[in-house]
Amino acid sequence: MIATRAKGLRYNVLGRQHILSVLRGGRRHVGGGDAARAKAWKTEEAGGMEQNLPLPLCKVDEKRSSVRLGALVRAYNELRGAIAGELSSSPSFKRDDHAPNEENLCTELSWLFEDSVCLDPAELRRLLRSGGNECRSVEGEDEGRVIRSRLTLNEFQDVWHLRLRERLPIQYILGMASWYDLELRVGPGVLIPRPETEVLLDLALGALGEERGLGSHPWLDLGTGTGALAIGLARHSEGACGSRVRVEAIEASENAAAYASENIERYGLQDGVRLFRGSWFEPLEAEERHRKAFGGIVSNPPYITDEEMIGLQDEVRLHEPRSALFGGATRGMDGLLHIVEESPKYLVPGGFLGLETGGPIQATHLGSLMRGQAWDRVEVKPDLQGVPRFLVARTRK
Ligand SMILES: C[S@@+](CC[C@H](N)C(=O)[O-])C[C@H]1O[C@@H](n2cnc3c(N)ncnc32)[C@H](O)[C@@H]1O
Repeated sequence: MIATRAKGLRYNVLGRQHILSVLRGGRRHVGGGDAARAKAWKTEEAGGMEQNLPLPLCKVDEKRSSVRLGALVRAYNELRGAIAGELSSSPSFKRDDHAPNEENLCTELSWLFEDSVCLDPAELRRLLRSGGNECRSVEGEDEGRVIRSRLTLNEFQDVWHLRLRERLPIQYILGMASWYDLELRVGPGVLIPRPETEVLLDLALGALGEERGLGSHPWLDLGTGTGALAIGLARHSEGACGSRVRVEAIEASENAAAYASENIERYGLQDGVRLFRGSWFEPLEAEERHRKAFGGIVSNPPYITDEEMIGLQDEVRLHEPRSALFGGATRGMDGLLHIVEESPKYLVPGGFLGLETGGPIQATHLGSLMRGQAWDRVEVKPDLQGVPRFLVARTRK
């Protein structure tokens, strides 16, 4: 059961397609003050970790340092060659059955270099590796060629040390995560959005496509984190139902809300997504106009149980915020139960509820609670691995 549930919150080594375009496209400056932000990371985002590295990478000027290509390739080869040894000798990797494997880490190392070095990624990949996976050396004119880089050679080592020894997720090092078709700012203090949750966005968009009238009401994203679901809904609702849905996003954590705010701004959605700080429906409670007002509610609340917390991968357990993971004493369902109970007060008749759960046990339990109450069409839907994970329902008309 632990393995199944934890799958929804496995450390994500996939989903990379867009990060590079952000790092290279100059949009990283949105939000302003790279130097100040990089400095702030050391104190605020590093969550108490002692370090002096210019992180996150997406906030660092890509022309900050000069490195010689020959030395860069040697540094890459050295770090890459050491991965297998680190995996077999490090107690942290040895005791973690779900730890990233050598192939995952090699991929991440090449991301780190691609994101740091001011060279066309295809050219860099060619320089770092010949046809297969063997390492290359650079000779002749290329050896001494000076290129610009965000990191110095020593910093590559230090950052990679953080990845391997501290198990710091690569997304926190880069400062970006790729999710659905979005590139979202992330860092310690906010959950890295998972590929599984993309299915929840598709389910919500499917409901909008099926009943286009739901798009004429605002939608709600509870526990928005980076803003992933709220931004996805705002951007894709028009394609699904012909009108752009307004979204209200609620988040309890101040840190996470700051990332959501930055991401909403990066996508120019300040008018389409309104962010509230508070616990679940609490920011809406005071105003009567919110009652029976929402066309749909989506949420991926914390759902990990106490026992499962210990079995999580180190990347998740040590670095992602506990408040985004731990679902409380009711077998991880504190948030889920509250949302199921309160949602009918806020949804229009026929309104959609879509929830991510910890897996079959939670989904089945919640589904049976909902059947026969204020709900119709209660269904459990599978995630990308086929694990029953999402609960969808409509309020009775
Ligand atoms: C599993 S994360 C999901 C984040 C984001 N929706 C996603 O899918 O990537 C759960 C989020 O709920 C937030 N949260 C936890 N308790 C909350 C509460 N009582 N009210 C509002 N948000 C809460 C956490 O801070 C965290 O950002």
